[in-house]
Amino acid sequence: MKIHIVALGIVALASLAAVGAQAPATQAAPVGNAEAGKKLYESYGCYQCHGREAQGSSATGPRLGPKPIAFTAFSQYVRRPTGQMPPYTSKVVSDTEMADIYAFVQARPVPAQNVPLLREP
Ligand code: HEC
Repeated sequence: MKIHIVALGIVALASLAAVGAQAPATQAAPVGNAEAGKKLYESYGCYQCHGREAQGSSATGPRLGPKPIAFTAFSQYVRRPTGQMPPYTSKVVSDTEMADIYAFVQARPVPAQNVPLLREP
């Protein structure tokens, strides 16, 4: 009986490892929703340091958009920052939310010609 339990455990571990092995080492950025990301970027306070348009500020935090670092590195940094930035674990910002925030910063800052108020009449 004991042997059966051990054997079951090994099978379970092996299948877990197989699931893990299926995930490619460098994943392409998941497709996020920039509109949802905009709300999350505000509610999580990213804007307080990185600016409302992710444009950054020399005083509080670097520019994030429109060409952020690769998604994997972005996500890792937000989860485990090494400098002044506070960490956001996966309990706070889910992977889906991370993808949405990433989509938002990729779409920012909005170029001046796309701001209706700044358009020539
Ligand atoms: C309290 C200020 C603060 C907040 C809030 C903050 N950051 Fe940061 N962030 C920083 C600073 C400062 C850096 C520069 C490195 C450092 O000191 O950690 C940084 C670095 C980063 C980097 C690495 C940029 C690069 O090019 O290497 C990413 C990505 C990032 N922040 C994303 C976010 C996101 C997304 C949020 C919201 C979920 C957020 N940050 C909230 C201050 C902040």
